[in-house]
Amino acid sequence: MLSEYKYWRNIMNRQINIRPSILCANHGSLADEIKSVTQAGADYIHIDVMDGSFVPNFGCGSEIIKTVKAHTHLPLDVHLMIVKPERYIHFFREMGADVIYIHPEACENAADTLTKIRSAGAAPGIAINPGTYVEQVLNLLPLCDHVLAMTVEPGFGGQAFMPEMLGKLEELGLLARKHGFRLCVDGGISVDNIKKTALCGVTDFVVGNALFKSADYAKTIVALRTVCGLAMA
Ligand code: DX5
Ligand code: ZN
Repeated sequence: MLSEYKYWRNIMNRQINIRPSILCANHGSLADEIKSVTQAGADYIHIDVMDGSFVPNFGCGSEIIKTVKAHTHLPLDVHLMIVKPERYIHFFREMGADVIYIHPEACENAADTLTKIRSAGAAPGIAINPGTYVEQVLNLLPLCDHVLAMTVEPGFGGQAFMPEMLGKLEELGLLARKHGFRLCVDGGISVDNIKKTALCGVTDFVVGNALFKSADYAKTIVALRTVCGLAMA
C-alpha cells in the first residue's frame, strides 16, 4: 500500500501521466505519429486491442504493437478488449507490453489472470466498464498496479465522455489512495473535462481524439497537464 506521505508527494510532484491512444492516430503515418507523441511529452503509449467479440470492433494487433515498439522508448499500455485474455498474456508480454489491462467480465478467472500478468513481468490492471459497479471488482483492486475506468462504452475512439461516471471516479480515487494503484480514465478525455476527473483523484489519462485531432501535440499535452496541475494544487 502506498504511504500517505508518498501519495501526497506524488500529487505535489504532479505525477500526471498522459497516455495517447494510438487507435486514434493517423495509421497512414503511424511511425511518425508515434515519434511525434513521444517527443511531445507523452508518458505511455496506450494500445487498444479488440477482437470483434468482446467489443464490436477490431483493432491494434501484433503488427501495430511491433510498429509502436520500434518507434518509441515509452512503456506500452496494452488494453485488452478480448474474450479470455488469459490465453494471450505471454504473447502480449513478449510483444513488449509493460502494462496489461483485462476486462474482468471477459476472463474465466480475473484474479488468476492478474497474477499471470504479474508473473509474466508486466504490471497488471483491470478496465472497468461504465455498467460495472466498483463493488463488483473490489476484490481485484489490491491485485492491480493500474486501474482503467472507462468513461465511454469500450470499442471506439471519439465518443463523448460520460459525466455520470464522475461518482465512480471519486469512489475509485479513494481506493487508489488506499491500495496504491494508478487511476486512469479512458474515453472522451479533453482539455475541457480533464479537470473534473483530476479532482476525483485521477492521475493518469488516456487521450485519443482530443490529442490526435489537435494541431500541436506538445501544446495539447502541456494544456492537459496544466489543467490537472491546477486541479491538484
Ligand atoms: C475505447 C478505447 C479508448 C479510445 C480513446 O474503447 O479504450 O482508448 O481509443 O479515444 P478517445 O479519447 O477519442 O475517446
Ligand atoms: Zn483504451
